Amino acid sequence: MYESEGAWREVDAYFVDTLVPEDPALIGARESGQRTTMPQAEVAPNQGKLLAMLCQIAGATRVLEFGTLAGYSTVWLARAVGVDGRVTTLELEEHNAAIARANLDRAGVADRVDVLVGPAAESAQRLIEDGTEPYDFVFIDADKPSNPAYLRASLALTRPGSVIVIDNVVRNGSVTDPDSPDDRVQGVRAVLAEIARDARLDATALQTVGSKGWDGFTIVRRTG
Ligand code: DHB
Ligand code: MG
Repeated sequence: MYESEGAWREVDAYFVDTLVPEDPALIGARESGQRTTMPQAEVAPNQGKLLAMLCQIAGATRVLEFGTLAGYSTVWLARAVGVDGRVTTLELEEHNAAIARANLDRAGVADRVDVLVGPAAESAQRLIEDGTEPYDFVFIDADKPSNPAYLRASLALTRPGSVIVIDNVVRNGSVTDPDSPDDRVQGVRAVLAEIARDARLDATALQTVGSKGWDGFTIVRRTG
């Protein structure tokens, strides 16, 4: 807990109250996150809206998400792509997927979302083998040690111009420690190094503070 964390929370509450009203479906999705295997891991409301707006700015109609949990970000993404869009979201646990499906139903977007249950790398491999049409936008927000594998799968499932966003790349600042014993930190560092090495990818990263503490996003644009 940082001394300033209370102030970060107050500012987030002010921004959310002012600009990012949540409807009952979003509130329900956020609250039901408590019943998943990873409570409170969902993005903040203003972050969910950032994802939705990035999708819309990119003109995305096909979205792939690694890590569903209760489907909070999935609702934001599904609403962003509109009635003719599609979201594929990959979730390890059937228990979480069932919660997500109920939330997507309540949000009125269940018909445009496929929740695929099982290890995300395996689900993504199946999408690749099936020759799935490229995705325009990818949100990587599942188990962090697998970030490099999820990036590689994303490159097989996107096209030049696609956007890839990766959550939780700061982790209270621990990302700067090359010797971190935390395999989640190593998963972030490895994926950032791969992005940097890949001539097809252009990227930046941003720190965030707020209701989710001190963390951040990487935003990647595929250029080739
Ligand atoms: C963790 C994962 C998340 O996706 C998140 O948003 C917050 C925390 C975690 O692995 O601890
Ligand atoms: Mg996350």
